[in-house]
Amino acid sequence: MPNQDHDDLLFDEQDLLEEDQELLESIPPDLDETLLQEARFWTGIMKEHALFIELGLPADRRDLRAEAARFNRLFARLERALDRTSRLGGRLLQHLQRALVAFINFKERLLRLLLACRLPGGALYPLLIDHITREAKRFLHLLSKPELENRLHALLNEQVFWLRVMKEHAAFVRQLLDPSERTLIAQAEEFVIIFSRLSETANEFESMASANPPSFNTVRRFTNEVIQQTIALRNFKAAAYELLLECQLLGIFSSPLLADHIRREADKFLGELALFTPTEANSK
Ligand SMILES: [Fe+2]
Ligand SMILES: [Fe+2]
Repeated sequence: MPNQDHDDLLFDEQDLLEEDQELLESIPPDLDETLLQEARFWTGIMKEHALFIELGLPADRRDLRAEAARFNRLFARLERALDRTSRLGGRLLQHLQRALVAFINFKERLLRLLLACRLPGGALYPLLIDHITREAKRFLHLLSKPELENRLHALLNEQVFWLRVMKEHAAFVRQLLDPSERTLIAQAEEFVIIFSRLSETANEFESMASANPPSFNTVRRFTNEVIQQTIALRNFKAAAYELLLECQLLGIFSSPLLADHIRREADKFLGELALFTPTEANSK
């Protein structure tokens, strides 16, 4: 796929907000509020993905680094626009969707290059690109289909998505630590094992739930375990961030922000789980 110039996606924020008032006022506020919060969170995440890509690309691929930097600026602009609006819709929503589609295409193009060994000399794991592409696709899906499904299915769907993400975060941290950091590597490995197990179980429960059981109380117990383990992983990430800031941790993290980024994603998962507790698991 040829390189694309995304300058047309860079827009005038004030102009967009003013033009959009009429459209924005036609959207139901409660639906829009949830969507707006999601959009603010994920747009910040996309902005940081672009930065991590830029930092991890090989030095001789200035074209791709410039493209990543453009995405970083684009999502920073969208983030500012989202902070200044109280409703999400109209052209701002369309712009966000277009930016996301372009960014997903960019990530997939990078993954194709990595898988074909055509991007030597960088520091981007193919699984990391796959991981952040999945996150972008989830965001795009949320923007196009915000309505809730059956609560049990929705809960298990969240867990299937996020537990895999959490497992991969632990694996990325393990792989970015210096080999001398044995204690932290062992802790990260322990989280990989725990979250692999939880992820597998969530997949199985999701499959069982497709039979539409009248109740499924085991999911409630499982959810409590997921919350406890995610809090532990979240604290591990927060501690890693502090250590990186204080230069007390050896590794090849391109920026301490990476540890904070994955900590925020763990908090997002915990926030979403909180919507389902304490009476989540046996509802229909
Ligand atoms: Fe992310
Ligand atoms: Fe992530």
